[in-house]
Amino acid sequence: MTTQTLTAPAVALEGVTRTYRSRAGGVHAVRGITHAFAGGSFTAIMGPSGSGKSTLLQLAAGLDRPNHGRVTIGGTVLDSLSETALTKFRRTSMAFIFQSYNLLDALTAFDNVALPARLARLPVDGAAVTDALDRVGLRDLARRRPPELSGGQQQRVAIARALYGKPNVIFADEPTGALDRNTGRAVLALLRTLADGGQTIVMVTHDPLAASYADETLFLADGQIVGRLQGADAAAIARRMNDLEQ
Ligand SMILES: Nc1ncnc2c1ncn2[C@@H]1O[C@H](COP(=O)(O)OP(=O)(O)O)[C@@H](O)[C@H]1O
Ligand SMILES: [Mg+2]
Repeated sequence: MTTQTLTAPAVALEGVTRTYRSRAGGVHAVRGITHAFAGGSFTAIMGPSGSGKSTLLQLAAGLDRPNHGRVTIGGTVLDSLSETALTKFRRTSMAFIFQSYNLLDALTAFDNVALPARLARLPVDGAAVTDALDRVGLRDLARRRPPELSGGQQQRVAIARALYGKPNVIFADEPTGALDRNTGRAVLALLRTLADGGQTIVMVTHDPLAASYADETLFLADGQIVGRLQGADAAAIARRMNDLEQ
């Protein structure tokens, strides 16, 4: 035993496997991944297209269930939860940011941010919604609907939705993929700030510069973790990606 404080990881994957059935046979999207994401850490996941990044993120977030293995979030084994309990758990303890934003066009920015709380039948804290929009620079656009916002503004609404309620874990799949460079950097800086404040960030990206905001980058190939870099700059991350794609 060491004298270090033993803190449970925010997200733990143990031997997680996901195989999709297809007419041509099974597709082994994720092959036995074991990894612990420490609380307050910011991890980037990179890998060639089809290497299993999105599948892994969805398994970790409980949006999909593994064929084998176990996902634990903040001490809760997701597999032990019923579908209803899992949905409720997801709404209160984590958030997911998608490249495609996943906003409802019929709702204002304010109501999109408040939606997960409403769905979880929790009282909506209007001041906290406004504060979340303020943190992404959208305080004055709270009454606009997604079709009246630019792509970058829509992604910031999605991020405000992830900020509201201060979830322990934020999963993001290519969150800057549809953004211009400056907006993308602002989003990454915000994710960095959240991790520094104790939230756990797990982000899939194909952009080495985006990954350089993380504490650690995991490299995936063929459904397995084949490498990791800690505190690397964008150039070092890009070199490792190039090696993987050879
Ligand atoms: N719903 C699905 N049905 C069948 N195969 C899938 C499905 N989703 C993903 N796959 C396959 O699983 C593998 C991993 O996909 P994915 O996780 O989306 O990779 P990545 O995000 O790294 O591009 C790919 O071979 C992909 O074609
Ligand atoms: Mg993907």
